[in-house]
Amino acid sequence: MKKFYLTTPIYYVNDEPHIGHTYTTVIADILARYFKSLKYNTFFLTGTDEHGAKVEEVAKKNNFEPKHYCDFISQKFKQAWELLDINYSRFIRTTDPHHEQTVKIALKKLYEKGLIYKSYYEGLYCIHCEKFVSKEELANGKCPDHNLEPILHKEENYFFRLSEYKDIIYKKIESDEILILPLERKNEVLGKLSLGLEDISISRKAVRWAIKIPFDEEQTVYVWVDALINYLSGIDYFKLENSNLCEFWPADLHIIGKDILWFHAVIWPALLLALEVPLPKRILSHGFFTVDGKKMSKTLGNVIKPKQLLELFGVDATRMLLISNFPLGIDGDFSINELKERYNKELADNLGNLVFRTFGMLEKYFKNNFSPKKPSYETKQKLISCIRDYKISFENFNLHKIPHIVLSLTSYANWYIQFKSPWVLFKENKIEELLQVISDILYCIKTSAVLFYPIMPNISKKILKLFKTDNIEENFSFLLENFEIDIEEVKIEKQEILFKKLI
Ligand code: MSP
Repeated sequence: MKKFYLTTPIYYVNDEPHIGHTYTTVIADILARYFKSLKYNTFFLTGTDEHGAKVEEVAKKNNFEPKHYCDFISQKFKQAWELLDINYSRFIRTTDPHHEQTVKIALKKLYEKGLIYKSYYEGLYCIHCEKFVSKEELANGKCPDHNLEPILHKEENYFFRLSEYKDIIYKKIESDEILILPLERKNEVLGKLSLGLEDISISRKAVRWAIKIPFDEEQTVYVWVDALINYLSGIDYFKLENSNLCEFWPADLHIIGKDILWFHAVIWPALLLALEVPLPKRILSHGFFTVDGKKMSKTLGNVIKPKQLLELFGVDATRMLLISNFPLGIDGDFSINELKERYNKELADNLGNLVFRTFGMLEKYFKNNFSPKKPSYETKQKLISCIRDYKISFENFNLHKIPHIVLSLTSYANWYIQFKSPWVLFKENKIEELLQVISDILYCIKTSAVLFYPIMPNISKKILKLFKTDNIEENFSFLLENFEIDIEEVKIEKQEILFKKLI
């Protein structure tokens, strides 16, 4: 059986989930549902990144012990994912004992191989990025991502011989052995790599809320090394638990934001090469977004929480609107008003209205006596071209295009209704012709419902119930392999409104 192992970043627990985290996780869920429906043995890992100075600081501010604080926030992430119908296979926390053990095993291996050594490090450190930053990266002396001055930090640390891996990683990225998507991001990484690669410090003396270095209790593991190893502990790579999950390795896809690409494209592969573990196959790096043209930040008070979107649009529309607002790789902007407009136009007026009016016509013209015809040539061509575009977009991870592709089918069906005017055919008693038109429209509706499944699973199920179809995954794989779908039965009854229009 084919397998697909995909991951999201593990999220910092210094904050509750917002639409940035939601975006990454929804993308992962859509891809997981897609591959699962195509009968891949799919494993989808997400979780929380719980160690580090920043978490300790926030916990203290809130009068919590760090672990209790982590329990509290990681629960918020789990709740948000439940509300968004995120069907992850496992939720990993870096405070899970088996994860901590995995990190220690990995570090011990590196140490025994002589790939870790002790030395002094002095530099500017941004505790919000949890990394040393160079002067060139700063904007007016401040971290450009957090608008805060980094602190000067000097200490004796353990270093990992990252520099030894420069050429090999360059080659693996250049040859797409590690495929970085989109292409511009691959070029960015190659450009930066060609400037050189220095060893990195992988331990801290001052940070106490972290995993202890197994060969030196005075030092703790740098949070990024701790965090990256979650991708191995999440599938029990070193077999600390009694499971066969390790067969999922190597990861088929790491989904991340562009801010953390360097860690995933360079540091992570180097650690894996050093551990003699096979490399992940692909890294999909999405853009960052602003809200109403401004950077999302607590200070500006414009952070959008998933709950806000869920209350307005419901779960399915939230997922669909989030992923289709702009191309995956580029930076984009969100505005609630624009999302409302899109919701009304694309979901209420287009898809929702199509289902409502078609089943209304079925009831009016055919009562309980409807046996569908095969689709006409023109509708069949339209269905085939839509399914083909859909597959290509999924294969290239162009997720933002997918809702628009499926909606082009429902737009076609709405246009077809106007063009063929079934009410005239009914009036003129052209029943055979009427039957063909309604059948054509029903093929479009059923096909779009199946295709929408990874993105809008509940709406998809609701529509497919009208066709007395329960086994969506079966229908999905059949449709994508054969480019056609059958309609055996249709439930003729008055329709509820799928998407209530928003004012
Ligand atoms: N803990 C690290 C990841 C470790 S993975 C081994 C981390 N966490 S995070 O919570 O800060 O962010 C995780 C992801 O959230 C980022 O990769 C990014 O994908 C996403 N986003 C956070 N803010 C965002 C926006 N404003 N826009 C888009 N995505 C954003 O980094």
